[in-house]
Amino acid sequence: MYCGIVGYTGLNYQSAPILLKGLQKLEYRGYDSAGIFVPDVADNMDQLVKEKGRVSELVDLVDRSDVSGTAGIAHTRWATHGVPSVENAHPQMSANERFYLVHNGVIENYLELKHKYLTDVPFVSDTDTEVAVQLVAKFVEDGLTTFEALQKMTSLLADNSAYGFLLMDDQEPDTMYVAKRKSPLLIGIGEDFNVVTSDALAMLDETHDFIELNDNEIGVIKPESVRLFNREGEEISREPFHVDIDASETDKGTYEYYMLKEIDEQPVAIRRMLDKYFGETGEILIGDQILNDIKAADRIYIVAAGTSYHSGLIGARMFESWSGIPTEVHVSSEFAYEQPLLSENPFFIFLSQSGETADSREVLQNVNRAGFKSLTMTNVEKSTLWREATYALPLMAGPEIAVASTKAYIAQVTLQAILAYALSDRIDLDLEQELSKIAVDIQAIVDDKAVFEKVANELLVPAHSAFYIGRGADADVSLEAALKLKEISYVQAEGFPAGELKHGTLALIEDGTPVIALMTQPKTAGLVRGNIAETQARGAEAYTITTKALAEPGDTGYVLPDVDPLLAPLLSVVPTQLLAYYTSLGRGLDVDHPRNLAKSVTVQ
Ligand code: AGP
Repeated sequence: MYCGIVGYTGLNYQSAPILLKGLQKLEYRGYDSAGIFVPDVADNMDQLVKEKGRVSELVDLVDRSDVSGTAGIAHTRWATHGVPSVENAHPQMSANERFYLVHNGVIENYLELKHKYLTDVPFVSDTDTEVAVQLVAKFVEDGLTTFEALQKMTSLLADNSAYGFLLMDDQEPDTMYVAKRKSPLLIGIGEDFNVVTSDALAMLDETHDFIELNDNEIGVIKPESVRLFNREGEEISREPFHVDIDASETDKGTYEYYMLKEIDEQPVAIRRMLDKYFGETGEILIGDQILNDIKAADRIYIVAAGTSYHSGLIGARMFESWSGIPTEVHVSSEFAYEQPLLSENPFFIFLSQSGETADSREVLQNVNRAGFKSLTMTNVEKSTLWREATYALPLMAGPEIAVASTKAYIAQVTLQAILAYALSDRIDLDLEQELSKIAVDIQAIVDDKAVFEKVANELLVPAHSAFYIGRGADADVSLEAALKLKEISYVQAEGFPAGELKHGTLALIEDGTPVIALMTQPKTAGLVRGNIAETQARGAEAYTITTKALAEPGDTGYVLPDVDPLLAPLLSVVPTQLLAYYTSLGRGLDVDHPRNLAKSVTVQ
């Protein structure tokens, strides 16, 4: 399982309030149960409190349990092994009630280990995590120290297992043990305390200075010391890095949901990008080494998942059109195992809001092993994909909390435009000016919220299925539009190349089926109009999102300002984000925490 990990050990402050606040900051990642463990040295009574459901329910339980202590660990779980339940929630406890473990990841060989080492141990959960903590207890009973037992347990885990472990031994109530492979873990550095977290956002109120744990490393953390050891048990040292996010950026402020806040922040995201990547005289501030390595490539491979994959489809058009470099876009979970024939000198671009998507990281590890060069564009500096690529460029979008990605998509398309433009000798476009105008145009669209709230409630809230159609870049945006609608409103939506409908899917169109057509591409807008008519002839309710130059009298839809066709996705995606948001709202759903989904998918 995976989701959110927080730990605290200090000299002066109660740990429970800090840990529970950390869990609340991690709620955006989605979860189905939560728990906390606080060793209490006072009357030597351990305090393990777990709850199936919301963190708020755990807070009430902890308050009623009068938990006290200055260290502890806590977790929000998104179930993979074992259903959501109190028994399966973390922390998982050893049978002798001495060890407590929270875990992000999946132990692929947990059953084998259970049958080999733990046949005489009583289990209370169905989780792979309980096997791990029972192994630690067993190895300590066999005479190892807790550190050695953790070392031995992690050495037994199959290579394709992923783990971020945070362990406490109630005989060392001020000490946290951490171990990591693939699932991110950070150690936060304080004055008279130290913290552990799977996501820096959870602990920004305590510290902005973190040390990342690398694969196969183990850490021993006390209130005034942090010690790191490599797989061979040799002590290593690593300087902390500073996280420059203002904790207030992670608050909802007056918004009901983060998603709408983040849609509204899109103009600012573009302006931050302009500040970061354009110099005083309009020169583009991307290092020559990156540009030269990409220019030397004979093909660019863009690898990403979900919304990031959709932004890559737009970026690919820019790289081919503006810089003339053949470019392919691949879904990371496919590319990792079905790698296509590569060109002689490929260059890889990874797009990832979180920088922790396991599917994408799997590909990056293969790319690194093959010795190819890579660039990661991510919203989280020092994330795994940031650290492990040859180069990394920040998206500058500010923390994206809602599970549905919006401003990261805009930032990824913008950054790819800037990079493609830097690679090209194309001079007939003042990109900085174009992007600055686009930021203003996006502001005008988000100021039109009421239009999209009305359309969503009339057209999509009552629908059980819906289609987005377009051609060229509009077909790419249709995929993103459909994903946004699906993932937060649960309407079965498909994004479709408009010309493809008549080859089969048109059979699904019936009376009242919503068909939203994107028409921003001059070359194909006329054809899409024909495709819309085909659907209307079969009863579809059509709605168009087009540009001023391509609009026609009688259109039912929204008219965008005119814009360079390759940059049009930056505008056309915004109405589709708002339609998804208001459809979810209209259906009374939790927009920020859609069922079954997590914000960052750190397992494959
Ligand atoms: C976006 O709305 C989705 N929640 C999801 O597809 C996401 O884009 C995908 O999991 C990739 O995440 P990443 O950008 O952090 O790699």
